[in-house]
This record gives sequence, C-alpha cells and structure tokens, in this order.
Amino acid sequence: MASLASTFVSRSNAAPQADAFIEIMANESLGEISPLLYGQFTEHIGGVIYDGVWVGERSKIRNYHGVRAELVDRLKEIHTPIIRWPGGCFADSYNWRDGVGPLAKRPRHTNFWEVDPDALRLHEQGRQIFEPNEFGTDEFVRFCQLIGAEPYLAANVRSLPALEFDNWVEYCNSPAGSTSLADLRAEGGFRDPFNVRWWGVGNESWGCGGNFLPEDYASEFRRYSTWIPSFGVDLQLVGSGPNDNDLDWTHRFFEEIFSTTHPYSNAHFTGWSVHHYAARREQALRFEDSSWYQVLRECDYMEQIIKDQWSVMGQYDMEHRVRLVVDEYGPWYVEGTELDPTHIFGQQVTVRDALATALTLDAFNRHPEKVCVGTNAQLVNNINALFLCHEDKFLATPNYYVFGMYASHQGGKALRAEFSAPHIHYNYEGKSSTLWGLNGSASRKGNLITVTAVNTDVHSPRLTRVKLRGMNIQQVTATALFAADMHAHNTFEQPTAVQSAPLRADLSAGEVNVTFPAGSVVKLELAVG
Ligand code: AHR
Repeated sequence: MASLASTFVSRSNAAPQADAFIEIMANESLGEISPLLYGQFTEHIGGVIYDGVWVGERSKIRNYHGVRAELVDRLKEIHTPIIRWPGGCFADSYNWRDGVGPLAKRPRHTNFWEVDPDALRLHEQGRQIFEPNEFGTDEFVRFCQLIGAEPYLAANVRSLPALEFDNWVEYCNSPAGSTSLADLRAEGGFRDPFNVRWWGVGNESWGCGGNFLPEDYASEFRRYSTWIPSFGVDLQLVGSGPNDNDLDWTHRFFEEIFSTTHPYSNAHFTGWSVHHYAARREQALRFEDSSWYQVLRECDYMEQIIKDQWSVMGQYDMEHRVRLVVDEYGPWYVEGTELDPTHIFGQQVTVRDALATALTLDAFNRHPEKVCVGTNAQLVNNINALFLCHEDKFLATPNYYVFGMYASHQGGKALRAEFSAPHIHYNYEGKSSTLWGLNGSASRKGNLITVTAVNTDVHSPRLTRVKLRGMNIQQVTATALFAADMHAHNTFEQPTAVQSAPLRADLSAGEVNVTFPAGSVVKLELAVG
C-alpha cells in the first residue's frame, strides 16, 4: 500500500487541471456552526462497547476506570463534543435500570442484535449476544466526562413505560441527596448530577423502535415528552425522524404535533433526528472507480435531505424551533471486512470513506441554521468508524483524521463560499451519472478562516485558486488526506498508511494557489487581517 508520507505526490502523473476556483465571502456569515455537529454515536452492538470502548478496570489494556484510554486520548485530541448512546435499535429494548448500581448485581439479558444475521456467526455466545450490563449510564457518562463531551441518551419508547423515561432523567439529573435515584447514583460514585441535556425520544420509531405509524408515534412522543422533570437543566428533546428522506413521515408527524386542534407546545422539543446510510450494496475494500463516485454521490445526498426535511418542518413549525439532529450517517457496506467475528457491522474504512465523511461534514457546515447536532455511525468497530481495535490492538482510521482536520470549524461562523470545478461523469450499473468535482465549506473564528474541501476526482489533481472577498490573506497553511491507492486503509500492521499531512500552498498577489491531490480532503487555514 502506498504511504501518504509522499505528501506532494499525486495519484496519477496527470498534470494538475488549472480550472478550479474557490471564492470565500469573509463578511457573509450563514450562522454559527454548532460544535455538536462533530459528534459520535456508540451502541451496544458487536464490538462498539465491549472491545471498543469498554475493556474493564482489571484489563491489561491501558484504561481509565475501565474505558479504553487510547480512545479517550484520541477523542480529546479532536475535541469530540457529544456522544450518543446506548442506541440505535438497542435503545428501544434497553432498561437503563439494568446498567446502574453495583456491578455484581447487574442482570444479563439478550442483546437486541442477537437476531441479526451477522450475529449468527457468534453461535449464541459472548457479550455481543448476552448483554452483561457492565457498561451502563455511569460508565457512559464517565466516558463522556473524560473526553469533555456531552452525553446524548436515547430513551426506550417501544418497550418501557413513559415513567421510566422520567426516572432515567431523575437518576441522571436530580440534585445530590434529593431523590432515592440520586442516592443510588451517589452510591455508584457520582454524587453530583450528570446534567444530561440531550435526550432522544425513541429511535427509528418507524422501524426497530416500534414500527409505528407517524401519527401513532406523534401521540407517543406527546406522552413521553410532556412534563419530564427538568431539575433546572435545559432539556433538548429529539423526536425520532425519518429514514433517509422519508418526507411522508415528517409531514404526518409534524402535522399531528403542530396543526391539529390540540397543538403540542413544548420549548424543549428542539431536535428532529435524521438517519442516512449509503452504499448498502457496496463492498468496503473491493471497488472500481464507478463505485468510488457512487458512494460519494449517495453520501452527498445528505444535503438534499437537509433541505427537503427543513422545508417540510417549516410548513408546520414556522419559526423553526426544531432543528435537525443527524444522529446516524455513513457508508454501510456488506459484511466481510470486520476485524473480529464479534464485530457485528464492523467494516474497514478507506480513503473513500474519509472523503464521504468530509463531504457530509461540509454539508452540515453549509446549513448551520438547520442542523444542530451530528453523530457519526459509529465511533469504533462499526459502520463508519474512527477507530478499529481488538483486545490490545488499536488503530485510527482515515475518518479520524478528517474529524481532526475539521475540528477548527466548531463554533466558527460559517461563511458563504463558492466552489467551482468541472463535474465528474461516470457510469454506474449501466446508467450515466454526475457528481461535482470540488465542494466544501468555510468558517471564520476571529482572524482565522478555515476552508475544507473534497476533490472527488479519483485520478486528477486539481490546481485551485482561492480568493477571499472582504479581507486580506496574510498567511496560509494547508493539510491534506489522500492516498496513492483508492482502496488504501489502515491496518494493525500499517496503522498510519493513511493519515493527514502538510500540503504545499502558495500565497501570491493575495490569492492562494494549491494543488488538491486526486481523491483528497484538503484543509486550508487562512490567517486574515
Ligand atoms: O447503526 C446501526 C443501526 O442502524 C442502528 O442501531 C439503527 O438505529 C440503524 O438502523
């Protein structure tokens, strides 16, 4: 596998195409980019929690109170702001009470994913099949605290009564000494309340979360989200939104909630979740050019989903009090590249996936008024992972470097920017298709402008002129992630085969000239005055 050490080498010998242009309007802000767009999702599935996050206090693997230390250290480096747990589909079969109190007394239960075809290979054995509840609310919140991330919990609407949602909020947020559940929390070593703000009211309620009709889910949503104890915490309640761009689900839910003779009013209802998985029939490691482009195109559909869902929501919630929470996304390939049989839905992550992740984050950045939270599915040993690990072996995937490169957008003012380059034309399954050649996002924090962009062209580097309107560029630094082989990925033997590295960028006559390598993610940092 080719290494990225050769930062200035492009995939092909083709001369860079000098026909790409980026124009950034320094004084045209689109709104503040919520830091929470850069979050992660963790579920009790396969190797995510057991093997990934949780190794146990007595493990020889370096850990903080049982949590894999290297994971924590790496997540701190990229400023992970929020983590969602415990699912996913697992959430709607989970009783939070099983995961609190003394470890020795916690019950074992059959894991939701036991019925999945991927779980067959485990032959009814192991923690992936029989949930040991070693990792519960305390352990999850500690994991978040170690990182400095906000916890985002998903409540069980399918199989627990609404009172249990209230009780879980009480366990997490009631003041020290105030309730029996606060005492139970204190017995576990957590005297102070967790002050959890973000709560999902179910998950995929159109499917694994209850198979509801939108009107029926809306009525459950009213019941579960009315008069939840707040303990002074500004709760943010997230409704279970559509599968992909299902507009009917959103229309019917919002209509029932806002336009009936009995409209629902709750200032804490601020989020509407969206899940978008791409590439379901594709292979993670074996693919041709056409699949490279198709996967990127399918991931790029995120922007259309954001626009379409927003427009439907606005027909009922005219002040747009509810914003989008994209709490599951990524390319999800057919099985076969998991690093251990216990890693249900585990898959390798190539440079193509890094581009897919980057263009998704750019889409979020371009719509800061619409999207308030994003959590990538999933953090480790799963679909679009940032890390793969097994026992004492650990690696960061190309996605990790993307989140590292993009972290400086967090909390910045999104800027209007135009990206122009010729489109890519390709054939996929006998049909001709197109994809943009270059796209990205820009943001400003004080005197620093961050520009991130993706060159989707798998063969041609692109010489790009970057112009800033309204301010002067004083200095530029650039970073790129790309690889000589479009299938490149990191392995335990070569854990840094794909990683970000400095890229040459020249500043002359107030403009930046930079060659985007073929199939690359690029970040420019412009010091401005
Ligand atoms: O991320 C894996 C699963 O995909 C989640 O549990 C579910 O919400 C979605 O269908």
